[in-house]
Amino acid sequence: MIRVFDDLESLSRAAARLFAEEAEKAVAERDRFCVALSGGSTPHRTYEILASESFRGRVPWHGVHIFWGDERCVPPDHPQSNARMARQALLDHVPLLPGNVHPVSGERLPAEAAGSYETELCRLFSGRMPRFDLIFLGMGSDGHTASLFPGGSALQERKRWAVEAQGPSGGPPRVTLTLPVLNEARLICFLVAGGNKAKTLARVIRGSNASHPLPAQRVVPWNGELFWYVDSEAAAQLGPSAAAGAGAEEKNRKDSTP
Ligand code: 6PG
Repeated sequence: MIRVFDDLESLSRAAARLFAEEAEKAVAERDRFCVALSGGSTPHRTYEILASESFRGRVPWHGVHIFWGDERCVPPDHPQSNARMARQALLDHVPLLPGNVHPVSGERLPAEAAGSYETELCRLFSGRMPRFDLIFLGMGSDGHTASLFPGGSALQERKRWAVEAQGPSGGPPRVTLTLPVLNEARLICFLVAGGNKAKTLARVIRGSNASHPLPAQRVVPWNGELFWYVDSEAAAQLGPSAAAGAGAEEKNRKDSTP
């Protein structure tokens, strides 16, 4: 399902609402909500809204378990750390139980960090394939998602749950969840904003170049839902049908929600 929003602010408010709704449902049904956060800049406003006075009371934080879709292998206080961004925007402002935040050990060697992240996943999911209630993902203009980059070996991984990955040249190594874990999720929501994503988003949504799919095209939950929350700039090349349908839906929702 694609929803096109006028701007990043309305996209972020909708993403925060989705997080709260899914958390409420998961905690009610299964006593916990396991979510994997995305890094990058797009989700930052969503995290701030979730931490805001008017919003944070909507989430049963006691039952929330926080993971990350990927992390850069840098110390936790490094400006490029995804965990640092989430802590500053959200985690330090809400009543999570201390043992329920599961960061990648970015300060360790990539292979060790990936191994210990898998061990934590194994513990939390009792040895079974991790099935997240919600995974937020971003998308780069090259079609990467999490740290699954075009042509990267991490994209081909079919057995392991988390592996080390190489980011853009000159950047730090990373650890990423693999496609099998992403596609096991109950719900995946891509958050995509900005005109620099428009060409790639159109290619991914159309499913073109199917013989050479981009990493974001490979995210197809086999027993779950896939949402795209995009702003109007990123949706610029989607064509009237996709945008109109989603936009109309968003308008209806705006009329009905507080
Ligand atoms: C990361 C993310 C990465 C990000 C995209 C989009 O660690 O950088 O996991 O996949 O989501 O690169 O980034 P922006 O939101 O900054 O455009």
